[in-house]
Amino acid sequence: MRILLLGSGGREHALARALSTQPANPDQTVEADSQPGNSTEQPSDPAGQVHAAAGVEKHKLYCAPANPGIERVAEKIELDAQDGDEVANWASKNLIDLVVIGPEAPLVAGVANAVRAAAIPVFGPDREAAELEGSKAFAKEIMRAAGVDTAAATTCTTISEVEAAMEEYGAPYVIKNDGLAAGKGVVVTDEAKVAREHAAQCLEAEGGKVLVEEYLDGEEVSLFCLSDGDTVVPLAPAQDFKRAYDGDAGPNTGGMGAYSPLPWLEENFTNEVVEKVALPVVKEMKKRGTPFVGLLYCGLACTSKGVRVVEFNARFGDPETQPVLARLRTPLAPVLLRAATGKLAQQPALQWDERSAVGVVLAAEGYPGPVVEHRPVSGWEEADKDEDVHVLVAGMKPHPYGDGQLITSGGRVLTVVGLGKDLGQARRRAYSAMEKIKLEGGHYRSDIAGRVSAETR
Ligand code: AMP
Ligand code: GLY
Repeated sequence: MRILLLGSGGREHALARALSTQPANPDQTVEADSQPGNSTEQPSDPAGQVHAAAGVEKHKLYCAPANPGIERVAEKIELDAQDGDEVANWASKNLIDLVVIGPEAPLVAGVANAVRAAAIPVFGPDREAAELEGSKAFAKEIMRAAGVDTAAATTCTTISEVEAAMEEYGAPYVIKNDGLAAGKGVVVTDEAKVAREHAAQCLEAEGGKVLVEEYLDGEEVSLFCLSDGDTVVPLAPAQDFKRAYDGDAGPNTGGMGAYSPLPWLEENFTNEVVEKVALPVVKEMKKRGTPFVGLLYCGLACTSKGVRVVEFNARFGDPETQPVLARLRTPLAPVLLRAATGKLAQQPALQWDERSAVGVVLAAEGYPGPVVEHRPVSGWEEADKDEDVHVLVAGMKPHPYGDGQLITSGGRVLTVVGLGKDLGQARRRAYSAMEKIKLEGGHYRSDIAGRVSAETR
């Protein structure tokens, strides 16, 4: 299969690794390649079965804009990933079988629309369906229509509406920018002044809208659901650590670390979320003529009153993707192709590594505020050598005059993923690898999966 992946973060590095996973038995692949119709399907080998059934074998992976880590498994190409026509033309000319869109910006910009219009399978929703992430007010409307439980919320366009809603819901105040804000549009605070200031800032923008929400208490879970517009296939649940510092202190970030699986979840959790959240939303989107094809990220809170939706995203989460895909044994490419072509109902059960995975993000000085860029990052290749650890590159680029030296180019610099027989071992491996990495001013949380691994040991 010839695959084009769009994006350049740690999530896309994880996707690139998973997409380049080849069938379990490469000999069968060659045979299947040269003799179409001669099925090599082996029900006893789920991974091989997936490949043979999809009729796709050896993968050639391209990526734009990519990063130095992704370039180890994919060919970087020069392409404006936000320009739908440019992406569709390139994919057409280069006989691409599947386009996978990582980040939200190209989705909201309508890149999937253009690729779909060119009759190329694309994993990622059209602009209209990506509004589930692009507008929090729209997501609330869909949830109301689909009967999905979420926090009560009021959409406001003036500061006096904001104040009235704050009065209604009380502290802690949850104030959300309606539009995309890279995980930084939400402020949760006990201080009315801070809440008002954030709301005022969001309202300043052209057409600015904010949501004031009921506060949801309880553990958060991210559940990624693949959707082909009708059928939903869930991945393993993960937990993200959104605040910048240990003990959930400091501002919200895009995510500072994540782990999977979640041993404390009730057994039926995933099925329930699929039945009560993902499927009703997917059905509602189809009913409106804007089917959701791609990844429906369900951000959930386990409250005393039951599971509530905190947010939807229209893409894989970062950094949850890093530990989740580290555990996925089924090769990813045929699964995403099935989602892109309306065939998820034919997907055999996904196979998961029994081990646990913990991902820890290394951020640049200043993150999540303005960051110091162009600082050398070293030791990450050494850290990557451990068999049970891999380093996923994000905000790093080659030094312009360098001899291969990489320097920082963004807020989240890399994710270290450790695998282990339990969360304790996985996190010890991730942290001892992290200690080998040197970045002046770099910071990471030291408590990713800490509490849960202590409890389950
Ligand atoms: P969002 O961008 O909507 O996911 O919000 C980012 C983070 O803010 C969430 O992951 C939660 O940690 C927190 N948050 C959002 N909405 C609420 C809420 N209604 N109650 C409590 N915390 C929330
Ligand atoms: N980790 C949260 C997100 O991807 O939005």
